[in-house]
Amino acid sequence: MSELAAQLADLQSRFAAAVAGAGDERALDAVRVDFLGRSGAVTLLRRGIGQLPAEERPTAGKEINDVVERLEAQLQDAQGALESRAFDADLSRTIDVTFPAPDAAVGTIHPIRRIIEDVCSYFERMGFAVVLGPEVEPDQYNFDALNIPADHPAREGFDSFWITDTLLLRPHTSPMQIRTMEQHAPPIAVVAPGRCYRRDAVDARHLFQFNQIEGLLVAEGIHFGHLKGALTGMCRELFGDDQQVRFRPSFFPFTEPSAEVDTTCPKCRGLGDACNMCGGSGWIELGGAGMVHPNVLRNVGYDPDVVSGWAFGFGIERLGLTRYEIDDIRRFVESDPDFLMQLH
Ligand code: PHE
Repeated sequence: MSELAAQLADLQSRFAAAVAGAGDERALDAVRVDFLGRSGAVTLLRRGIGQLPAEERPTAGKEINDVVERLEAQLQDAQGALESRAFDADLSRTIDVTFPAPDAAVGTIHPIRRIIEDVCSYFERMGFAVVLGPEVEPDQYNFDALNIPADHPAREGFDSFWITDTLLLRPHTSPMQIRTMEQHAPPIAVVAPGRCYRRDAVDARHLFQFNQIEGLLVAEGIHFGHLKGALTGMCRELFGDDQQVRFRPSFFPFTEPSAEVDTTCPKCRGLGDACNMCGGSGWIELGGAGMVHPNVLRNVGYDPDVVSGWAFGFGIERLGLTRYEIDDIRRFVESDPDFLMQLH
């Protein structure tokens, strides 16, 4: 081995030891200066080339350059290793892997939807089908077929949003009675939940867009007792076993007799007193019901001498106020997740 080769081998092993011992970037930089700096070990070796015989000089220069290249590559690797070690150290300082993870935000069913599902499920267990229909209806389905002729004051009572002279946003789900009976022969047993619209000023008890659920049972021998039984059962399922249901005489063009249906106020449990939920009456109004008017049965081609039926139409949000003991219907539509998540 030539003298130069021996010197280069020695230089490389000293260099490797120095790099391995450099614990941070500053130490590594000192190694660079010691070996590759202007007055470092490599420069000294280069100076020695001048003393070599002229024919050996080019080979010697090349040997040195090759080694310098290798040293620089090693320096770069060492630099990279230091940087990634520093990065890891920084991570473990700022990320506490033992810290409990934040709760994942999991969505849940909206309380209004839950009531719709609960009411549907109660009726489905009794053999009813759930049917859905359009929110825009012709006046034919919304009024005429429901025994509300063109000049009848009940039309005004609905305060509807009209789209054309004959089309409107349905103000109740009762058109689904007609749609169902038109398509099927009796017996009929359906519930029809869905959105309804009325030009009501919004306040604690009213929304201009709300949900109703319609119920319709038509068959031979159906009487008012069946209606009372079905609705009492529904209220007990929704609100508890000792829930009372009251039927007050009322009027709807499409039912005869007609009733307004009330149920025990969940807050005062019917005591009234100064209850702000029911206004002291002890009762909460759920909606209308009654025996399907013979004219309605005739309008869909049924024979009122053969079949009879009951129908009801309840406000879902009203059921929601009662179920969750909320005093303002607007809370259902304000999309405040913190509030809605409390209702089950
Ligand atoms: N459709 C009526 C309303 O919205 C409620 C109702 C439905 C009454 C069915 C009787 C029978 O006020």
